[in-house]
Amino acid sequence: MSGEQDIRRSLVNHAPLRRRPHVMLRRMIDWLPPDTPLWGDDAPVAQLERRVADLLGKPKALFFPTGTMAQQVALRIHAERTGRRAFVAHPQNHLDLWEQHGYAAVHGLRFLAAGDRNRLLTLDDLAAVGEQVSALLIELPQREIGGLLPTWDDLVAQVEWAHDLGAAAHLDGARLWEAQPYYDRPHAGIAALFDTVYVSLYKGLEGVRGAVLAGAEDVVGEAAVWRRRLGGAIPDAWPLAVAALIGLDEQLGRMPAFRDHAVEVAGAITADGVATVLPDPPQTPMFHVHLPVSPDAAKRARDDMIEAHGVQVFSYAASQPRPDRSAFELSIGENAMDFTPDEVAALIRELVKRAERDEGGAV
Ligand SMILES: Cc1ncc(COP(=O)(O)O)c(C=O)c1O
Repeated sequence: MSGEQDIRRSLVNHAPLRRRPHVMLRRMIDWLPPDTPLWGDDAPVAQLERRVADLLGKPKALFFPTGTMAQQVALRIHAERTGRRAFVAHPQNHLDLWEQHGYAAVHGLRFLAAGDRNRLLTLDDLAAVGEQVSALLIELPQREIGGLLPTWDDLVAQVEWAHDLGAAAHLDGARLWEAQPYYDRPHAGIAALFDTVYVSLYKGLEGVRGAVLAGAEDVVGEAAVWRRRLGGAIPDAWPLAVAALIGLDEQLGRMPAFRDHAVEVAGAITADGVATVLPDPPQTPMFHVHLPVSPDAAKRARDDMIEAHGVQVFSYAASQPRPDRSAFELSIGENAMDFTPDEVAALIRELVKRAERDEGGAV
């Protein structure tokens, strides 16, 4: 059975390679001025909050230990301000899929799904909702459908729909850093559409963990109260903030290169013909690879490849409506930049071959 220590190269952005405590601490020590204070205006958390507020063009930004906490708090505030308990979003959003329905269990909110789970939200989908909502939640890119992005005009129209109804617009910007090159506008230009914006510190930025919520002074002030109530006001969150500041210095400018590499890698996979990609071509550094084998066989082939040559192809294989199909998310970051597009295509070919052999199918 292969383990973390066996991974020598990886296509996975979250692979331990660049994230092991010793590697991370070394980068932090090399980056951090020795006289950095622990708390206060010049401490890492305050620096990070100012920097993200500036980048997003918002009056205030607040560190949160997780995006899960930050977004639930944002939606709760929008609900209390509008006196409406329901928010509307794409059927496959992070809050409904991956957070044990915290928005309902903890905050008493209701989720209204709009549109088709396998395609982007449209204005017609929103118009069909027919209920008063507190907020429209938009995820850029829409992760579960491969990291698709709406056109700028669609985005503007959807946010206008919310505002016309007296609802707020909230951005799940877990991958806003990765989405920005597609729109070719400053981060602040995208964030300006939204009343509240959450960004992640550990996906494209390759930090440790953590999130930032940005918005108007009073909204973020209220979010700080909720952060304390929920146990998220960690005074010494500096290691997470330092890792994120390094990410802003070193990774943010790399997003166009990551996206370009994603397009080339996806092209090589498609040309090889063994697997398909979604979207084709990718719009961000993230896309999905669809395999003609079951998730279990794909996972066993992944583990065999780690054992055989220390290369990790993916971390998680999702099931598909057809049991003999699976898909995984590929996020191009520093780890994946280490592979040429042809090398990635060859790895996927090997993975599928191993999985087919394992399933007793054609080789
Ligand atoms: C789209 C999206 N939103 C929100 C989150 C939540 O972030 P966190 O892990 O910081 O709670 C994630 C995490 O994977 C995500 O992918």
